[in-house]
Amino acid sequence: MKAPERIETTRLVLQRPVESDLEAIFSRYASDPDVTRFVSWPRHTSLDDTRAFFAFSEGEWNRWPAGPYLIRSRDSGMLLGSTGLAFETPVRASTGYVLAADAWGKGFATESLQAMIEIARAVGVVGLHALCHTEHRASCRVLEKGGFLREGILNRHTIFPNLGVKEPCDVFHYVRSLCDE
Ligand SMILES: CC(C)(COP(=O)(O)OP(=O)(O)OC[C@H]1O[C@@H](n2cnc3c(N)ncnc32)[C@H](O)[C@@H]1OP(=O)(O)O)[C@@H](O)C(=O)NCCC(=O)NCCS
Repeated sequence: MKAPERIETTRLVLQRPVESDLEAIFSRYASDPDVTRFVSWPRHTSLDDTRAFFAFSEGEWNRWPAGPYLIRSRDSGMLLGSTGLAFETPVRASTGYVLAADAWGKGFATESLQAMIEIARAVGVVGLHALCHTEHRASCRVLEKGGFLREGILNRHTIFPNLGVKEPCDVFHYVRSLCDE
């Protein structure tokens, strides 16, 4: 079963990326050093990087029930960030989120995460996962507000390419069970 390519929440529109979004993705968040500090992908330094993201997104959407979603304001249409589902199997996926700096602190990550949980459940995911750098308090808080439980620490697990350290960092592993609701 495929997920909808466009969903509306109270304040947001979440939509599958299209090619005309690339410049806004690059300029609004993907090239911003502060925004990309704790993400697991290298900050975009040219539009070619954003094109590579789009190719990745198309591949995910073609192969799996869903893939990346862009987050826009329902009021203004402005691009605010992105989220999505990354499938490992048909019943197991991970999620994450990144927002442009001027969209922080307004509950948008929490609202987007709730939408991802609902989509994941609707397409048959039973376990939704997320990883979070152990020092990234705001992101941990978003996951906990979304009903994710911290299962433990994965030591020296994830490389954060924009932190300026070559070694993998410790991350919290969060899980949201979806099968018993
Ligand atoms: C992390 C991020 C997604 C949060 O988005 P957001 O829309 O501001 O989050 P929300 O407003 O929904 O919720 C943030 C929560 O964290 C809390 N918070 C923010 N900074 C915090 C900090 N330094 N320590 C503890 N809690 C913090 C907020 O108070 C809020 O909790 P509350 O509702 O109980 O008050 C956003 O800052 C972002 O995109 N950062 C850059 C990309 C990124 O790091 N993504 C995550 C990769 S794992």
